[in-house]
Amino acid sequence: MAFATRRFVRAASSAAATAAAKKLIVKHVTVIGGGLMGAGIAQVAAASGHTVVLVDQSDEILKKSTKGIEESLKRVTKKKFADKPEAGAEFIEKTLKNLTTSTDAVAVVHSTDLVIEAIVENQEIKNELFKRLDKFAPEHTIFASNTSSLQITQLANSTTRQDRFGGLHFFNPVPMMKLVEVIKTPMTSQKTFESLVDFSKAVGKSPVSCKDTPGFIVNRLLVPYMMEAVRLFERGTCWDAESSLFIKLSIFSLGDASKEDIDVAMKLGAGYPMGPFELLDYVGLDTSKYIIDGWHSLEPNNPLFAPSPLLNKLVEEKKLGKKTGEGFYKYK
Ligand code: NAI
Repeated sequence: MAFATRRFVRAASSAAATAAAKKLIVKHVTVIGGGLMGAGIAQVAAASGHTVVLVDQSDEILKKSTKGIEESLKRVTKKKFADKPEAGAEFIEKTLKNLTTSTDAVAVVHSTDLVIEAIVENQEIKNELFKRLDKFAPEHTIFASNTSSLQITQLANSTTRQDRFGGLHFFNPVPMMKLVEVIKTPMTSQKTFESLVDFSKAVGKSPVSCKDTPGFIVNRLLVPYMMEAVRLFERGTCWDAESSLFIKLSIFSLGDASKEDIDVAMKLGAGYPMGPFELLDYVGLDTSKYIIDGWHSLEPNNPLFAPSPLLNKLVEEKKLGKKTGEGFYKYK
């Protein structure tokens, strides 16, 4: 029995060793999209010793991304090396040395292990990008998307490497947020999945895994919660165009609560750091509308995914939240 157990343990550990040996150790990363998310992903990858090329459409955008990364690194360093300023300066220098930029994705993917896409949330544009890069990236290269709401399977289907394709969903702001959702489609190989999990750990994050289901874990719970908060507010109010204010329909309106009270309630009663309206304004009302509209078209009878007239109206008026100075609240 002891002999059999030893043999089993040896066989199991050698199987694990073979699987590990087959995993891709990511050293060189290409991040496409130097916006809010892409710049953050490039920063944490470079800070953890990976060679990173950050790609965007123009040098002007990339200059802005690099400046943002430098400022963010200074903030991180102030905390991390509070009493060792020299070590902090060395950390910034090393990180920036690992990072280059380019406006030509095709020219840089030939030597990359992992492509992380963080461009505009649009299925056709993302598909077109992946299809083009698929022709130029080496055989072993893994493709990953940071999409919040699109199906990873549909993106993978625009390439011939469905087994080397997965989701890597980081959270905003990337240098601060510890979570990464690693998404495995039915076609993602175990080796690819494990390589993505290992990469997430290597950049200092805590990965969780999820199937390719709308919203993955966090947004699947968070977006319906925020929409329900809007409906709670919406039920007792109507928009008065003359005064440009939400007016109360009746003190007896069912389900009525002000947005301020809903925010206070969720912060003090549920311990959330932000209320749902503050969070909606932070995320961007256009982004939230895009997500809910996409899910509604997939499941039109699901009441959790029902669109909100109030949210639609604010987006139509270009009141998109903090980034435009006004959403549910004013920021001017
Ligand atoms: P963003 O608008 O800040 O940045 C997108 C960048 O992609 C822009 O700089 C744009 O010039 C560039 N771009 C667009 N098309 C391109 C192309 N064909 N080639 C190269 N660059 C291109 O957007 P953000 O917020 O960084 O979002 C990016 C992705 O990350 C989206 O898929 C979004 O759903 C996802 N995401 C966003 C989060 C957020 O809180 N903003 C959180 C998690 C995921």
